[in-house]
Amino acid sequence: MAAGLLDIESLRREEIETILARSKEFQPEPGHTFKRFDTLRGRTIVNLFFEASTRTRTSFEIAAKRLGADILSITGSSSSVSKGESLVDTLNTLGAMRPDAIVMRHSASGAPHFLSRHLPIPIVNAGDGTHEHPTQALLDALTIIDRRGSLEELRVAIIGDIAHSRVARSNIFLLSKFGGRVVLCGPASLLPREMGRIAPGIELTCDMEEAIRDVDVIMMLRVQFERQEEAPIGANEYFRFFGLRPEHIALARPDVIVMHPGPINRGREISSEVADSQRSAILNQVENGIAVRMAVLERVLA
Ligand code: NCD
Repeated sequence: MAAGLLDIESLRREEIETILARSKEFQPEPGHTFKRFDTLRGRTIVNLFFEASTRTRTSFEIAAKRLGADILSITGSSSSVSKGESLVDTLNTLGAMRPDAIVMRHSASGAPHFLSRHLPIPIVNAGDGTHEHPTQALLDALTIIDRRGSLEELRVAIIGDIAHSRVARSNIFLLSKFGGRVVLCGPASLLPREMGRIAPGIELTCDMEEAIRDVDVIMMLRVQFERQEEAPIGANEYFRFFGLRPEHIALARPDVIVMHPGPINRGREISSEVADSQRSAILNQVENGIAVRMAVLERVLA
């Protein structure tokens, strides 16, 4: 199995620190664009996205190009194909193309792990079902360090559709390695009890005000309708109980930051006033996605 990046759970804290330190070196100076490097010249990366993506796919493309690699993106929905068939097809197709690394997003949890057991090529997980989204947690960590100075001992509220969120899982694993205390909050039907047991120091609540009180970071999540069959809660009702509004911000620490992996739904999980406020780090997250993915691609191809 070639070394790739499949999840945060199996990374050691020191490995996370090394990736974040390297990401910092790739951040552009204020007012400048990302520098170009030659590190991965002659290498070919295949970006294989079986699920919709704007930010993640584009930022892997930019990151690869900034390092001098050739990258090609293959997109398509796997929804009509059964899991087994699509993965076996994928395996054979990719084996024949012989890329140097594969970046993969798939609706099946564990799909990149499956590929990595069968292909002698490093695989980078760009989101697998409801399981993990490791580069998202790394870019979130870099954004927290930029805005708050450190990852140590933070109190973080993650609010929304916890049940279907790979972003929540990867962030929980990462934050808990740095002594973070995470409060998970959402409608009871989207807040499975088991999530409270995946790492130490996790609390669960359906009360948004309780979740936000005294936190350093608020992470909002989208309701991921594509992963559920239940009748959706109407946008107005959802916003009333779980939408982040200016009055909530006063309950948190004075220097709280608001994050969201995107895509955001204004008026459902977050108000425009908060999304566009000084407290919001949403666009910093997008920007940091490139630096983090440069560090990750360099690491897996070095
Ligand atoms: C997230 C994802 O795909 O898991 N988005 C992203 O990568 N920026 C979250 C989401 O889709 O809601």
